[in-house]
Amino acid sequence: MSITQEIAKLRDEINFHLYRYHVLDSPVVSDAEYDALFRQLQALEAENPDLVTADSPTQRVGGNPIDEFEKVSHPAPILSLANAFNRDDLKEWEERTHRFINQLDLEFDPETEQIEYVVEPKIDGLTVVLTYENGRFVLGATRGNGEIGENITGNLLTLPALPKRIPIDPQAEVTVPDRLVVRGEAFFPLDKFESWNSGRAEAGEKAYMNPRNAASGSLRQLDPKITAARPLTLFCYDIIAWDGAVPDTQWERLQWLKALGFPISDDIAFCATIEEAAAQYDSWLEKRNQINYEVDGIVVKINNRSLADQLGFVGKDPRGAIAGKFPAQEKTTQLLDVKISVGRTGILAPGAVLDPVELGGVVVRNATLHNFDEIARKDIRIGDRVWVKRAGDVIPYVVGPIVDLRDGSERVISPPTHCPFCGEPVVRIPGEVAVYCDNPTCPEQLVRRIEYFVSRGAMDIDNFGGQTAVLLTGNGMIKDLADIYFLNRDNLLELEGFKDKKVDNLLNGIEASKNQPAHRFLTALGVRFVGSVVARTLLDAFGGIDRLGEATVEEIEGVYGIGPEIAQSVNVWFQDERHRQLLEKFRAAGLPFDQESAAEEQSQVLAGLTFVITGTLPTLSRDEAKALIEANGGKVTGSVSKKTDFLLLGEKAGSKLTKAEKLGVPTLSEAEFQEKISG
Ligand code: IVH
Repeated sequence: MSITQEIAKLRDEINFHLYRYHVLDSPVVSDAEYDALFRQLQALEAENPDLVTADSPTQRVGGNPIDEFEKVSHPAPILSLANAFNRDDLKEWEERTHRFINQLDLEFDPETEQIEYVVEPKIDGLTVVLTYENGRFVLGATRGNGEIGENITGNLLTLPALPKRIPIDPQAEVTVPDRLVVRGEAFFPLDKFESWNSGRAEAGEKAYMNPRNAASGSLRQLDPKITAARPLTLFCYDIIAWDGAVPDTQWERLQWLKALGFPISDDIAFCATIEEAAAQYDSWLEKRNQINYEVDGIVVKINNRSLADQLGFVGKDPRGAIAGKFPAQEKTTQLLDVKISVGRTGILAPGAVLDPVELGGVVVRNATLHNFDEIARKDIRIGDRVWVKRAGDVIPYVVGPIVDLRDGSERVISPPTHCPFCGEPVVRIPGEVAVYCDNPTCPEQLVRRIEYFVSRGAMDIDNFGGQTAVLLTGNGMIKDLADIYFLNRDNLLELEGFKDKKVDNLLNGIEASKNQPAHRFLTALGVRFVGSVVARTLLDAFGGIDRLGEATVEEIEGVYGIGPEIAQSVNVWFQDERHRQLLEKFRAAGLPFDQESAAEEQSQVLAGLTFVITGTLPTLSRDEAKALIEANGGKVTGSVSKKTDFLLLGEKAGSKLTKAEKLGVPTLSEAEFQEKISG
């Protein structure tokens, strides 16, 4: 291929991806893949400047406006930013700035004046340009190609966060310019996105790949009623045009916009040096998954706007600001196969085998597909090109297929009819999405049950890992859970790698576990819906496992905090003759069946401590966490203050985390919290 052809091909490809992204709201490559193509084109054009044409995608910003909307010219170009990818890139940007200041002889003396910065979240939404005349919102537009956008005033009017007149507070002491044009980013809050989007899929409508596409799609509806029904919101961060006076620095401009009534992110930071700004990049990498909107980076802006303006542009990118992009958490790859695993409750879960893809600094080969209903609902097929997402501590998952890239060779995924491990027919429980293997002797399931039985939240048996479980079930030394307590020392010593010390450690750990309280034993049995908190509640109410086993559904349901699902599940478990036999075997081994009195049990390790809970915890519900804190003598309140001792922190925490950070309140993960109460 000649250079000319190569350039033409890249331009076609890039234009296709721009169209998918900006017009269809349905990209088929990730931003990172798009960026790579774009950089390739930039490099080729730099080497061959005579081949640069005005219509090359490198010469313009964003996508073309679509025909359905009235076109509007922006009062000034709506620009984008150059990218940095790490702290070093940010420092280099500052060095470039300094060199430039020296060369240009600007009205700025680097000897006596310090360059300060404002760091803002780079919100992954849709840019909007908002015009106010005499304090009234008169026009709202998309960015379009940077010069001409689409008039989406009617849709923007439906956003509760958008001020329809300024100042919102008539008492506010701010002078409002006759004309003011503000730039912001409209977005879909994350806590609302998941449920809203799956509701769409259930109703047979096309689900959006991510919150950004949903925001963009929602704002470019021809009927504002549709937009109004979606929980969109907005943050503003720049002034594009104005009559009269506006503050001189970015920081003051943000405060000023806020005083006028514009929504401004709380997550902005003033940085006196580039080092401080670069440190923000690293702390944001941690924080990005704890806030309620999607960010794909930070934006570092020179605070002194006059200096920033004097610095001018490189191509279409202003020199006075830079985007610090985060590693992608979402990419596309190929779904090579589906592998089924079985959990301790017998759920057969489909897992994706992927063409390895780097996500957020980790190579991802496997991802969850959740369940077979979800696969069917999203119509995911083997061989599909799929979106995969990995955000923070979340297990990587397949978001959905890119249907438009199918070539017909893809294979539909059907739920299994038989357990792939024991061959027994699977069962479905009405009203549930999961497919179960209900064979209590399924060898693979037994391994999962043992792993759970010995785990820290249950019997907490030291030196008993997953490999031991695989080995001892594989050689038949453990055929059911109770066999753990009938392991024979001599037989163990015959196993490869099992020396005296190892065997003693294992057997001592098993023996010690007999001293665990009965509610731990009940937890370890793995009855569906009976986790540590429910087990404790049940045994406190019934006094022991035998009495619980004799109780009717109504009696169980009568316990405060126990719902019908749990009651049903417990009752069914105890009626199963196989479970009764198992319990007798445990009794013979000397396991605890009776709950010690609640008074003796009541721990006071958290006495005098006040907790606030925020975000989604990995295993505990909020109510469970609250019950646990209270059971250990602690207190739970709803908002963070100076009196808060700890913030119990889950995924997607919002303003409570920000507040805690401001007040210096320490945070605890669920694991750290569990450690605290068990220690
Ligand atoms: S400043 C010249 N600040 O990120 C000023 N942009 O390429 C350029 N974005 O699509 C924009 N949050 O819409 C700026 N706090 C923020 C931003 C932000 C998100 C978007 C912007 C554009 C891209 C920058």
